[in-house]
Amino acid sequence: MKDHFTMDSPQPRLLDETKQGVIGTPMDRPDGPRKVSGTADYTADHTPEGVAHGVLVRATIKRGRVTGMDRDAALAIDGVIDVITDPRMTRNPAQGMAGEAPVQPGDAVHYHGQPIALVVAESFEAARDAAQRLSVEYETEDAAVTPETTPDLETADPETAGDFDTAWSGADVRIDRAYTTPSQAAAAMEPHAAIAEWQGDTVTLRSALQMVRFNKDELADTLGIEPSQVRILAPFVGGGFGSKLGLGPEAAAAAIAAQKLGRPVRVVMSRQTVFDSVLRRSETAQRVRLGATKDGRITAISHDDRVSNLDGEGFAEPVSQASQFLYGADGLSFTQTLARIAATPAGSVRAPGEAVGMLAFEAAMDELADTLGMDPLDLRLKNLPEKHPMDGRPYSARRLADCLTDGAQRFGWSDRWQAGTRREGDWLIGIGMASAARSNMLVRSAARMRLTGDRATVETDMTDIGTGTYAILAQVAAEMLGLPPAQVDVRLGDSDLPGASGSGGSFGANSAGSAVFLAARKLRAEIAARLGCDVETLTLQDGRARGDNREAALTDLVPEEILAEATIEKGETAESHFSSGFGAHFAEVAVNEWTGEIRVRRMLGVMAMGRILNEKTARSQALGGMIWGIGAALTEEMQNDPRDGHVVTRDLANYHVPAHADVPGDMQVVFLEERDDWANPIQTKGIGELGISGAGAAVINAVAHATGKRAYDFPILPDDMVALFEA
Ligand code: MOS
Repeated sequence: MKDHFTMDSPQPRLLDETKQGVIGTPMDRPDGPRKVSGTADYTADHTPEGVAHGVLVRATIKRGRVTGMDRDAALAIDGVIDVITDPRMTRNPAQGMAGEAPVQPGDAVHYHGQPIALVVAESFEAARDAAQRLSVEYETEDAAVTPETTPDLETADPETAGDFDTAWSGADVRIDRAYTTPSQAAAAMEPHAAIAEWQGDTVTLRSALQMVRFNKDELADTLGIEPSQVRILAPFVGGGFGSKLGLGPEAAAAAIAAQKLGRPVRVVMSRQTVFDSVLRRSETAQRVRLGATKDGRITAISHDDRVSNLDGEGFAEPVSQASQFLYGADGLSFTQTLARIAATPAGSVRAPGEAVGMLAFEAAMDELADTLGMDPLDLRLKNLPEKHPMDGRPYSARRLADCLTDGAQRFGWSDRWQAGTRREGDWLIGIGMASAARSNMLVRSAARMRLTGDRATVETDMTDIGTGTYAILAQVAAEMLGLPPAQVDVRLGDSDLPGASGSGGSFGANSAGSAVFLAARKLRAEIAARLGCDVETLTLQDGRARGDNREAALTDLVPEEILAEATIEKGETAESHFSSGFGAHFAEVAVNEWTGEIRVRRMLGVMAMGRILNEKTARSQALGGMIWGIGAALTEEMQNDPRDGHVVTRDLANYHVPAHADVPGDMQVVFLEERDDWANPIQTKGIGELGISGAGAAVINAVAHATGKRAYDFPILPDDMVALFEA
């Protein structure tokens, strides 16, 4: 039973009819006990029989060519087996959903930190020692390592609607501001790792990866073999945030070394290597122009940006993504410039675009409200467009106004005071808010379900990168089949299973979840046929099937395994409607007027993101995003040395993610009930990235409210704040 479904029209809300009481509940993760007991098998936990250990050697020049290596000295170190260079080795991870080999640079060096060789030894320690001591000769070239200094700028044609210039020049009130955000690191807890093992001409790769279906093609293309010769296993992944979307250089190197040496090879990146060679979020320079009438109707919106990347990388941080659909205006204009530089390449990092674009855009909205003498909440409510301002599509489901007003009420927004007028000792107190938005997608996904009696199995190559996929897929299957979730086994992260979207762009739950739903729907039809009832009347609950006055236990109806597979693809609804998650973020901060220290005191996110599949994992995602919002506003900053481009902040002591002490105890998340009928057959929308999108802006706006001073370069560090006080 194979089903191919295209999302061309709204589907019945079956998950509201099934009555098993599983969907949406805050069910614990079934994989939780394995994680806390250390028995979940993350990549680096494996040490297959006969494994050799590889450590990547990184280039120490910004651009040029490797002309020699003192292999003999390295090989003289006890336990060292080989120093491997190979034309198939890769320069950096593949971009998300590339499905083909990343750049294979040969002996060319394109950035400081680029992997240039793999030292393999009997022990990790010997390999690391030799990799660090390996003497490499280079021919060096000059290259710009910062966007400010490169002549290599690619400016895209503006994306426009209406006539921005006329609207701008005719506006009563104008805001024209420049902002900067630094590079950010995904900083997933589990460093990148790969173990490769060959059997004949097929390779099995265990690796920390988000998108197995795409990664399989990337490895095959990298090695010059067929995808059918590749199997990838990623049952547990310790966080990704985009950094594990594409096949990494450690995986290519492990596969190449394992083939050459005829034994398994394990390559685990050090944290420093992760910072050096895993895709960063681009730094941005942004200009936001907002024009409005005196009474606060926005007439002109422009958001221009400059981002960077390495030559040969197709990705450019889509900074103005949300600015293009949040508010309406008579004229809108968006122009992006991509600067080519010789530094760690850039790629998708959690909520690419919105995460940093909304910092600037929603800060500019706040300043426009100030200038108009208007409440920032009212300014937003007044300017919600009827339709997508750029392409005229209707929104599928948009509860932005409800999120704003509900959040304002819960947060006590109406008590807002004059900026810079409330203090507690040396601390100035302020509150701020921002809209949240993150566009929603459906990506082709397949899943298979097996049912024997009252036990079911879900099989898909979908990954769980810490988000709760094991939980939600069990819940969808259990709800549909009327089984307790404990009677559903979920098998993930194996490329031999039906290919799903993988985890990325917050589309995993929608896409893989819909595939599981459709496969389960097939099983329901088969169960109804066996019971002799119309599937419309079928109720499955607690292992029993009922319908048309018949009733039977699943163990009697399905004595032997039945199986169904389904594939879902986006269709006409993706053209006819625009789908996005929406929300509102609120923050309260205290700013020390002497030290410039900024403490977030409480945060509230109110979000409408379609049907919630698991209240606990959804909340956890939203909270994680909001915490990253604090990081983007106040702490996180990757720094490159402007002389050679090397990453200076190469560990979690120097790259400051918010620590527990930076996160207030009072972090509230509220989900407003929503069904997105145009998004997919389970009426869900993406969750993970909505939490971060706009969260940092609420913090930044709260700082401006507390102090009456505005920063334009983020994060706002204590010395930046002191400088603002002194200005
Ligand atoms: Mo996400 S940045 O697409 O993992």
